[in-house]
Amino acid sequence: MPQPRVFVTRRLPQEALDLLAAETELEVWPGDEHPPRDVLLSRARGCDAMLTTIEDRIDEELLAAGKGRLKVVANCAVGFDNVDLQSATQHGIAASNTPQVLTKTTADLAFALILAVARRVVEGDRDVRAGQWNHWRPFAYAGPDVHGSTLSILGMGQIGLEVAKRAFGFEMAVYYYDPIRRPEAERQYGVRFCHDLPSALKVADFVSVHTPLTPETRHMIGQKELRLMKPTAILVNTSRGPVVDNTALYEALRDGIIAGAGLDVTEPEPIPADHPLLSLSNVVITPHIGSASLATRTAMALLAARNILARLKGEDMPTCLNPEVLNR
Ligand code: DGY
Repeated sequence: MPQPRVFVTRRLPQEALDLLAAETELEVWPGDEHPPRDVLLSRARGCDAMLTTIEDRIDEELLAAGKGRLKVVANCAVGFDNVDLQSATQHGIAASNTPQVLTKTTADLAFALILAVARRVVEGDRDVRAGQWNHWRPFAYAGPDVHGSTLSILGMGQIGLEVAKRAFGFEMAVYYYDPIRRPEAERQYGVRFCHDLPSALKVADFVSVHTPLTPETRHMIGQKELRLMKPTAILVNTSRGPVVDNTALYEALRDGIIAGAGLDVTEPEPIPADHPLLSLSNVVITPHIGSASLATRTAMALLAARNILARLKGEDMPTCLNPEVLNR
């Protein structure tokens, strides 16, 4: 019997590729660049499974092309706004993501950005390298303290909760806003619920965004919301770029409406080198590296591979997003 065909859209950690290669006919798109659209479409037609990343657009056109043969698309990310889940379900194609394995690593990065912006780490490093640090001055590079301040977490999922735990180590008061109240997190960790977004924005010295990108959260932080924040506040986004309106953010940072921002995600992505945000010294931007530790990227790829193998063998998928397709 021929082995099932699997297409992996990027070079991924070898352990995951080995796992797939042992039981499938595997094709890995070479290099670090995502495959062109026509390649993606042809593999959707000719493969039983695809292992994709956030840069691959898994939309109706692609899923319709895969209908009949393609059984599973395993997205190597917790976020799946690049996957049209409704179309996948309509076409009987299972989709999966990689939750849990990247939670702590992403929370670490959110905290790194909080610290980097508040303590002006990147600005200082830039000046030292440019030979512009000539002598110690009492107020040079002086920013706000992180310890003892107030943090609002927007989206109290697993990553939000891990950020809260880190914040308690810094003796911060932690508030959260989420459409779903989390009484257990409130009891266990002492996080405080805000009934609406404005209350969470007004109270905070730091606001950290952890919502998925959905039609409801697109530009959830815009001009109106930024104006509710303290002029000393710092915004951190490690979720998805379009949750924050970058034009409004640029203006707010330029005009001193808020004090700083740390962004691991932007709109667009990658952010062009001449984007106005990059002209500001009170912004730190990292290249979408929330989950980028070696161990976590390996764990994500392994989880995606396991989802594929489980689906191909008719077993329970570890993290299926549309389990309703499995028994069809
Ligand atoms: C995710 O997992 O959604 C990240 O954005 C990519 O690692």
